[in-house]
Amino acid sequence: MRRLRSIRYRIMCMTFFLVLLTVCSLVLLANQQMEQLFQEYLQVQPSVMADMTMGAPEHLFLMSVHRSLLWVGLFFVLVGLLMSYFLARNITIPLRQLSQAADHIRQGRLGQTVTVHAQDEVGQLAAVFNQMSVELARNEKLRREFLANIAHELRTPLAILQGNLENMIDGAAQPDMARLFSLQEEVMRLNRLVSDLRDLSLAEVHQLELHRQPTDINQLLTGAAGMLEPLLDEKNLHFEYDLQADLPLATVDPDRIRQVFYNILVNAVRYTFPDTTIRLHSWLEDGEVWIEIQDEGPGVAEDDLPRLFDHFYRTDKSRSRQSGGSGIGLSLARQFMEVHGGTIAASNRSSGGLIVRMGFGPL
Ligand SMILES: Nc1ncnc2c1ncn2[C@@H]1O[C@H](COP(=O)(O)OP(=O)(O)O)[C@@H](O)[C@H]1O
Ligand SMILES: [Mg+2]
Repeated sequence: MRRLRSIRYRIMCMTFFLVLLTVCSLVLLANQQMEQLFQEYLQVQPSVMADMTMGAPEHLFLMSVHRSLLWVGLFFVLVGLLMSYFLARNITIPLRQLSQAADHIRQGRLGQTVTVHAQDEVGQLAAVFNQMSVELARNEKLRREFLANIAHELRTPLAILQGNLENMIDGAAQPDMARLFSLQEEVMRLNRLVSDLRDLSLAEVHQLELHRQPTDINQLLTGAAGMLEPLLDEKNLHFEYDLQADLPLATVDPDRIRQVFYNILVNAVRYTFPDTTIRLHSWLEDGEVWIEIQDEGPGVAEDDLPRLFDHFYRTDKSRSRQSGGSGIGLSLARQFMEVHGGTIAASNRSSGGLIVRMGFGPL
């Protein structure tokens, strides 16, 4: 019963039925016409033939023509049967391959692709299927990496906390103020990481709640820079502002955008060389507000640039947590910009250092 419902069977039956119908009608028509024409022929040729009635030889002749027509008909019916079989097979083989591959994906064997050479609709379906399959495998890989990275990032501060607490309980270390402060710092770092991760995953599925309001972008930028001022002396750094006055207000969530600026500026302060200047630039272009933050650090290798905004991506894999953040600052910045309909991109300055440019889209 299942076989009868298969597309291959239905296409085959339908084409064969059409061929059969055409061949039978042609044979019937030809037979009829033949007999009629032959009789007419006998009636209009009296001078040539002596006896013009339908005698035995004429019947014999007609019979043999009928038989030949039947054989020809049968031959075409057989050809039709073969053709409909191969046609149906040609159409359904790629479909079967697709369904097998889809089943493998369902069982968790991701990345399955099918080789279909057809350029028709089935070929297009196969191409889309292959793209989807590769994308699924990629996403699954990213998901695993993401989870592994989260586990890794959480494990380190937890291990530090546990070790220190155990030492204090055992009496191997004194619970002095310095130690407690450093433990509190670890807890705060953990807290920040967890809330960043939460925001990141919400933003990725477009579930992040935004409290948009008309906002002065320059003010947000200077506010974020202000929070970092106390860190500048340590490396003898300077902020240089080149902000276009009278920028139109942008309808954004100020807290989120401040965090974007903060994350970029923290990186600039962290990675730029000592005794250098960090430039903050804002301008209006074609009705869009743009912000650029430039530092004078080592920049980023061109190969690393496209992956800079990926989760947990660090150009220096060996860098410890102390010398850097958790590696999600830029991915959070990108997600926040994207949920606002904006863009963010990084490039290297020709004279050294990184430029991060953000656009807020048409206002
Ligand atoms: N201004 C910069 N100069 C050089 N490298 C940078 C800069 N900003 C970011 N990076 C590189 O990009 C990586 C990702 O940045 P980010 O997502 O903020 O993570 P992190 O928490 O490590 O700062 C950093 O680890 C660093 O390697
Ligand atoms: Mg960072």
